[in-house]
Amino acid sequence: MTALLPEPRRVSWDSGEFIIDHTTSICGPAAAAQAVSRALSLPTGLPLTVADQGAISVAEDATMGEEEYRLVVSPQGVQIVAGSPRGAGWAAQTMLQLASPALFTAPLAQPIALRAVTIEDWPRFPRRGAMLDSARHFVPVHDVLHFIDWLAHHKLNVFHWHLSDDQGWRVASDRYPRLAELASWRTKTSNRVWGDDATPHGGYYTMKQLKAVADYARSLGIETVPELDFPGHATALLAAYPEFATDPSALDGVAHYPTIFDNVLNFTPEAMDFVHHIWSEVIEATGARYVHIGGDEVPTTHWEAAPEVAQRVGVEDASQIQRWFTLHMRDWLAERGVVAIGWDEIIDAGPIDGMVCQSWRGVEAGGVAARSGMDVVMSPFSHTYFDFYQSDVREEPYAQGDITTVEKAYSFDPVAGLDDLAAARVLGTQFQLWSEFLPSYRAVQYAAWPRGCALAEVAWSDPSGRNFEAFELRLARHLERLAAAGINYRPLEGSHPWQLGGQGWRKRPDGE
Ligand code: ACM
Repeated sequence: MTALLPEPRRVSWDSGEFIIDHTTSICGPAAAAQAVSRALSLPTGLPLTVADQGAISVAEDATMGEEEYRLVVSPQGVQIVAGSPRGAGWAAQTMLQLASPALFTAPLAQPIALRAVTIEDWPRFPRRGAMLDSARHFVPVHDVLHFIDWLAHHKLNVFHWHLSDDQGWRVASDRYPRLAELASWRTKTSNRVWGDDATPHGGYYTMKQLKAVADYARSLGIETVPELDFPGHATALLAAYPEFATDPSALDGVAHYPTIFDNVLNFTPEAMDFVHHIWSEVIEATGARYVHIGGDEVPTTHWEAAPEVAQRVGVEDASQIQRWFTLHMRDWLAERGVVAIGWDEIIDAGPIDGMVCQSWRGVEAGGVAARSGMDVVMSPFSHTYFDFYQSDVREEPYAQGDITTVEKAYSFDPVAGLDDLAAARVLGTQFQLWSEFLPSYRAVQYAAWPRGCALAEVAWSDPSGRNFEAFELRLARHLERLAAAGINYRPLEGSHPWQLGGQGWRKRPDGE
């Protein structure tokens, strides 16, 4: 059995195989042929040059959806017809699943045999994503690129990159050198049960690295959505620039434990100048057309104690300050051709036209936003926060709150309970890898897969006629690809012994 995941719309198997080797070339319109070459050559190491003639032919069909493709593999060759280069890239990702899982081990430029098949396929939702939290624990560029490879292989098209939080600010800027010098590292990491590890942790990305990551993702059909979280969750920034804080005297360095901190932006002209400047640099580097402005979990206590902040921004009282900032950012970004996404707190005081609401505290806020005509990303913590435990096994490594199994992730329906009009506003869904409890990229992989495989199918495949039992059979075969690549996923039959929490700092506390 050849496991296709996410499941395509229509599949018709044929007999025979097509062999790709170092002599194979690709013909067709340049951008679409390049997209196919890129997706196939990265994991295989085969050159797959674009030429006037080629056994792999690519064509574009403007009547097809942007990400739609038709793929015909026969012993004579491969034909791809797609709505755009992106759709052609997804056809190439499907081709990789027609070969032996072993190809994912290393790009050795060996011949690859593809099973003959005809496939017609298109996505259910236009935005299918994953959020990587590089703030709580830094993820080196090399690992970020690897993560993106595996998003692409699951036909996920949004890489939401959480680049700032209380525990670390990850973007360097020449104009604000203390970001790299101070905001990018903490002296230790603590959790409320096991104390602290007495070990410094940090790292940052240069603007050149942000650009390289966004360019790499784009070459695989993935849009990078950078997030800088303001006006709360900004302790690391405020530790480096206390003059932007509502109470500089209450700061105690870059945070080393997770909680909601009262210190927030004070919105002085200098603080706003910073916000504008850093966003200008990040947008220029990434070429982002959607950015995430954060906005979650913002206490108003300091703004209440300092009425001059409300006066400064021209609103009546502290309760209106966050909305003022959200509207300001929406308009400032729109002038630059960029759409703002915010966590669902942004609509606590009512929907906001022209923004995207990312529903996380549940699906209710997303429903309100969608019914008001806002675009929505549905990502409730209950089903899409993959920093949660994945089983009730006591030995699982210390994680967040609840249990989200693969089956639970697979059961998520992003448009449940919405009428057709509201459902049409749901752009898609994504999974979140908050990293307070994910100290390394290996830990990120353990949290991401296979739950990410489940959410990729929720986001891409036809919801009718799908069921978990059939999915699980395909998933078991699909995981042979991740195994070949050496990915630290959680096996369906249970964790490897070395993936468990042990008796030390990663032990799951009693009673949780
Ligand atoms: C969030 O989980 N605070 C968006």
